[in-house]
Amino acid sequence: MRQSYDVIVIGAGAAGMMCAAFAGQRGRRVLLLDHAQVLAEKIRISGGGRCNFTNLRVGAENYLSRNPHFVRSALARYGSREFIELVDRHGIAWHEREHGQLFCDDSAQRIIDMLRAECADGGVDWAMPLGVERIDAIAEDASRTGGERYALHTARGTLTCESLVIATGGLSIPKIGATPFGYKVAEQFGLPMVAPRPALVPLTLPPETLARLAPLSGASFEVEASCRDGSFREAALITHRGLSGPAILQVSSYWQAQAYETGDWEPVSLNLLPGENAGAWLAAHAQDRALLPNLLAERLPRRFAQAWCELHGWSRPLNQFRPAELAAIAEALTAWPLTPSGTQGYAKAEVTLGGVDTRALSSRTMEATGHPGLYFVGEVMDVTGHLGGYNFQWAWSSGHAAAQFV
Ligand code: FDA
Repeated sequence: MRQSYDVIVIGAGAAGMMCAAFAGQRGRRVLLLDHAQVLAEKIRISGGGRCNFTNLRVGAENYLSRNPHFVRSALARYGSREFIELVDRHGIAWHEREHGQLFCDDSAQRIIDMLRAECADGGVDWAMPLGVERIDAIAEDASRTGGERYALHTARGTLTCESLVIATGGLSIPKIGATPFGYKVAEQFGLPMVAPRPALVPLTLPPETLARLAPLSGASFEVEASCRDGSFREAALITHRGLSGPAILQVSSYWQAQAYETGDWEPVSLNLLPGENAGAWLAAHAQDRALLPNLLAERLPRRFAQAWCELHGWSRPLNQFRPAELAAIAEALTAWPLTPSGTQGYAKAEVTLGGVDTRALSSRTMEATGHPGLYFVGEVMDVTGHLGGYNFQWAWSSGHAAAQFV
């Protein structure tokens, strides 16, 4: 290992490996370092071990960021098509699941091996495990220092580079190596932050709601879950702590974003009959002698339908409800409001909402404004994808974008 590089990338996760590989293939001398013992644990455990590595349909609408347009440029230059080409070139078999999600056929390890091979093609040096104790800015104008702008103090001495890429990710799953390192670097260089929060995370419910919902615990059903402008039609699950399932994970990011903006905890709204006009459906059955839970069991799991009706005191035959009551039932079926008390936190979160404010970064190069040679890629910045391969696609796209300029 040398002491001086063109580029040092801190964090050998998805974005860091991508950036190091492509920068190396441009002929830059690159060092990739990571404090973890094991390489790319997050890729390994992703997608249930099969890595949902991208999505067939990726657009700015699949991301949350204070600047919703920030992702456009990088996604346009290196999107899912380009990443699929790379995966195909490495002979990795994949399949499509619902909502355009692409997964490896056998194991996420194939993606890690592919990125390692791309790094080897770029002649990338590795330092792992190795932490960085301190970063000093040497000079903004690298021509005065023979290409040295940043000095990194480590247990293996001082390393210098012209371009420094921060790819240390967010805070989710601390037990496999997540740290706030990137946020501290942002702070050191005076870059603004959007407060980080766990996202794509199960929501908790207050004890009084949990007690009421206890009979529903374990029930899984299709919903349209909504909060503010986020709306997702997928499965939801009632757990002994609150709400989970893909629809809830998706909407948790929007719930967190609104809580950050308003300081208020608004309810999440569940449409239990997505795609159905509940009012018209109930009206068509208003004269039936069947019990409401039995009618609902045509659309919802029977146990859930029964417990949900008991919860509301609505277990009578349909023809015994007054029109106003039927209207209230239709309203509750269409927009059942549940106000979470919080989330299950970073231990269970797939990603971190917030991070380095994109207003301080170039959307073309990922370089920090006012700090030549300092780049941020991947989840460390305030870009959070929906569930479905979008977070890895951001890691690939932003890593690739920076690699062209470092
Ligand atoms: P990433 O977290 O991958 O890498 C950061 C690296 O920096 C790590 O190697 C870490 O060790 C290192 N690091 C941290 N602090 C450091 C320090 N102080 N010094 C040195 N190194 C340091 N997304 C998706 O699109 N499809 C999916 O299937 C899944 N599945 C999934 C499952 C689970 C359980 C989780 C937790 C997350 C997912 N995700 C996902 C999200 C996805 O894993 C995530 O968005 C990307 O890995 C982010 O890539 P980054 O490279 O930015 O960070």
